[in-house]
Amino acid sequence: MRRVGVLISGRGSNLQALIDAAATPDYPAQLVVVIANRADAGGLERASKAGIPTVVVPHRAFPTREAFDAALDAELRRHSCDLVCLAGFMRLLTPGFVEGWHNRLINIHPSLLPAFKGTDGPGDALAAGVRIAGCTVHLVRAEMDSGPILVQAAVPVLPGDDRTRLAQRILAAEHQAYPLALRLLASGAVRVEGDQLVFANPDDQARTALLLQLPLPSQG
Ligand code: GAR
Repeated sequence: MRRVGVLISGRGSNLQALIDAAATPDYPAQLVVVIANRADAGGLERASKAGIPTVVVPHRAFPTREAFDAALDAELRRHSCDLVCLAGFMRLLTPGFVEGWHNRLINIHPSLLPAFKGTDGPGDALAAGVRIAGCTVHLVRAEMDSGPILVQAAVPVLPGDDRTRLAQRILAAEHQAYPLALRLLASGAVRVEGDQLVFANPDDQARTALLLQLPLPSQG
């Protein structure tokens, strides 16, 4: 059983997906602490309801990014975390922190990376006029929104979509993708060689491409 710390900044719907997954039989990970950089992060209540210890580390209280990240690191180590999941954590992490959790730090991003890095994956996908959008769960490297891809889930961009509708469809995909990615990493079904992922079983690798809610072509 791997011990997982989750970092959040907001409502924590991905955290909830992980909480729900971790409550299922045979799930190979246990959430042992939820850390937020904002005291008003809605996800803190989700964690408390699930009986998971919470910590607030307010970034504004620290003079530098390095000092903030050192405080995060100390909390994660105090809770003996093996893995760290970023779940809507909206602070850039320093290279030192990322190195310290090399291959043990996972992020979810609301686009099919390497497209649409940054803070508004759904809005940028819509503006670019792509027909397929989605999300990516990946191991974190120092460069923002980069690193070996664990799982991707694709959803269609539908006629009449606005940013909110598309973001909701992507979010529903995220809730499937993140528990799957954590399961694969925590169970040892996938290991990392350099920047390549190696799956012990090709069937597991095949399951890391989720194609969701593709509409049927209409007649006529
Ligand atoms: C999710 O869509 C996540 O992919 C995104 O923030 C949202 C958090 O929602 N993360 C990023 O954009 C990171 N660059 P949640 O708090 O309900 O999980």
